[in-house]
Amino acid sequence: MTTTKKHHIPLTTLDAVRKPIAEANGMPNAVYDDPALFEYERDNVLGRNWAGLLFSSELPKNGFAKPVDFMGLPLAVMRNREGEIKVFHNVCSHRGMILLREETEVEGMVRCPYHSWTYDLNGNLKGTPHIGGVGKHSAEGFVCEKHGLRSVRSAVWNDIVFINLSADAVEFDTFIQPLIERWEAFTGANGLDKVEIAATGSSMELIVESNWKLAVENYCEAYHLPWVHPSLNTYSPLDQHYNLIVNDEMSGQGSYNYNLSDIAGTQLPQFPDWPQEQIRQAEYISLYPNILLGVQADHVFSIILMPQSNSRTLEKLQLAYVGKEATGDEYAACRSAVLESWKVVFGEDVFAVEGMQNGRKSPAFQGGVFSPVLDGPTHHFHQWVASQYAKDC
Ligand code: FES
Ligand SMILES: [Fe+2]
Repeated sequence: MTTTKKHHIPLTTLDAVRKPIAEANGMPNAVYDDPALFEYERDNVLGRNWAGLLFSSELPKNGFAKPVDFMGLPLAVMRNREGEIKVFHNVCSHRGMILLREETEVEGMVRCPYHSWTYDLNGNLKGTPHIGGVGKHSAEGFVCEKHGLRSVRSAVWNDIVFINLSADAVEFDTFIQPLIERWEAFTGANGLDKVEIAATGSSMELIVESNWKLAVENYCEAYHLPWVHPSLNTYSPLDQHYNLIVNDEMSGQGSYNYNLSDIAGTQLPQFPDWPQEQIRQAEYISLYPNILLGVQADHVFSIILMPQSNSRTLEKLQLAYVGKEATGDEYAACRSAVLESWKVVFGEDVFAVEGMQNGRKSPAFQGGVFSPVLDGPTHHFHQWVASQYAKDC
């Protein structure tokens, strides 16, 4: 795929971001506020890495297809008859019609609405009616095998469908392994494979009028907790938090004392292998570029940040609980209390990320500075973004 490899951020500006935290600047206003950089980021900052696209549960059964607009790029996600998820460019090989216009269960083939060419759920072109003239469904020299849908490299983990547009990022397993290892110390081996999405208390969506990177940055730090999240600060206080830098593309924070159950009276099943002496520990990790994850002893959550423009982001949150029994009616009230608690927290963050977005309209702000103690994980993300941009200087 041809990519948009240009931006106008000078290398000296990026180098200033990559200095040690006490001397570093933040990324300049333009990377948040310039609409011209949106496509650049799609093809490069997100496109060269493993970006989250949607939850696989959004394709609820085999033989299901769903169009997804990824930062202006039309994609089609399909779950084939065997249950495998595949991602394609959502464009018909014939005259470039958008193939899928709405999510649908696919009875036989996926059919282009324009001249009725058909594709199977693996993207193979199967039918070309009248291509050789009326009543003649093949044509001299036309080979269907050459004209299937163009695929996008993808992987599924923890119910998230990831894509790598450039097709040359590291293997997905290599990318995700450090996080799996880190969290298996809490959840036990393959712990995240045992979580379940419930019919209620499992999802919410939020639109924020902010660049997607500000949502990542805000998630990386607990510094704002006492002022922005007074309620959360009662059951997971700032002084019980620690900073986390896992590797180049993961940072965030953890809490030693996440204690919603005492405040809200929730009693949900917990990971059986979670060490008892750490039962109130929780971790919140940004998986660059656009995934935010949280793990607690009795539930986990994932947020996919879907950038809609340089200044608007859709946040899709999905919670999952430990084991099938946690999804039953008897736990519905507990699940609802957990979801409500996060609704409050993420709702409280909206004014902060939107305020930072608006602040970037001021030329008086030149990227800002960092607390050398509390902003480490945020600065780590800035360094990562600066390094992505620096590849194209
Ligand atoms: S554009 Fe799809 S069949 Fe012609
Ligand atoms: Fe927050």
